[in-house]
Amino acid sequence: MSRTVFVNGEFVAEENAKISVFDRGFLFADSVYEVSSVLQGKLIDNKGHIKRLHRSLNELKMSAPATDDEIVRVQKDLIERNGIHEGLVYLQVSRGSADRDFPFPAADTKPGWVMFTQAKQLIESPHAQNGINVISLPDIRWKRRDIKTVGLLAQVLAKQAAKEAGAVDAWMVEDGYVTEGSSNNAFIVDKEGKLITRHLGNEILPGITRASVLELVEKENIVFEERSFTIDEAKFASEAFITSASTFVWPVVEIDGTQIGDGKPGPVAPKLRELYIRNSLARAE
Ligand code: PDD
Repeated sequence: MSRTVFVNGEFVAEENAKISVFDRGFLFADSVYEVSSVLQGKLIDNKGHIKRLHRSLNELKMSAPATDDEIVRVQKDLIERNGIHEGLVYLQVSRGSADRDFPFPAADTKPGWVMFTQAKQLIESPHAQNGINVISLPDIRWKRRDIKTVGLLAQVLAKQAAKEAGAVDAWMVEDGYVTEGSSNNAFIVDKEGKLITRHLGNEILPGITRASVLELVEKENIVFEERSFTIDEAKFASEAFITSASTFVWPVVEIDGTQIGDGKPGPVAPKLRELYIRNSLARAE
């Protein structure tokens, strides 16, 4: 069945949705995005996603296409129109359409915005249950990974390399240290039970799920440290896991063919997953 999507102010059937060939998102990846998850038909952690959308827009001197209330109304409307019980809402804002030229177009150029939903089983997931294997590879992205742009070619190549290697995902490495997963933040738990995840900076995306999980970690009195770690340290850890809006928390049980801990998820990652889902459902909009 065809989805209803949202394009520049209109709800249309996906096969009728049209974007200009001059849209700067299409031509220059001059565009930012957010992915919010949906559970029980409600938006999860969406305040954080809207806040980060503004941060990305500000960093690139782009304007918002609508007020927050309007944006959230469209998100909710799409969830309802498409009958999404569990899945994702994708939201993209571009600098708009103008004749191809590198500098910003005229100040009165209207931003472009599109949204669509994806139905997806998020709670019942074999990867959440059994954990995933990842490979490591060099992080070849640009230096402003804290901005959530659609310039995702490095991640496309990373995920494809993982797939070809029989892995579910890739952890990217720069100057000897893990930056993050191809579309998620990376965590390890050391042999003493201390949780470690890379500190924020221009090198990684400030994950909304990462922030919520760290709040829970604090509440649970789990010792944690925000610092860089190497692939060797991760291989020697007792646990590893990833966080993102589309996975929540997935255990990582193998890195570059080396089993992590006993090769089975837990105990920390499954517990954080359960806490995250319960907590965010209680706050869902
Ligand atoms: N990706 N790091 C990168 C590079 C990401 O692309 C993402 C999210 C994250 C996790 O951020 P959050 O917890 O806010 O989802 C970290 C989304 C899900 C995507 O591109 O589909």
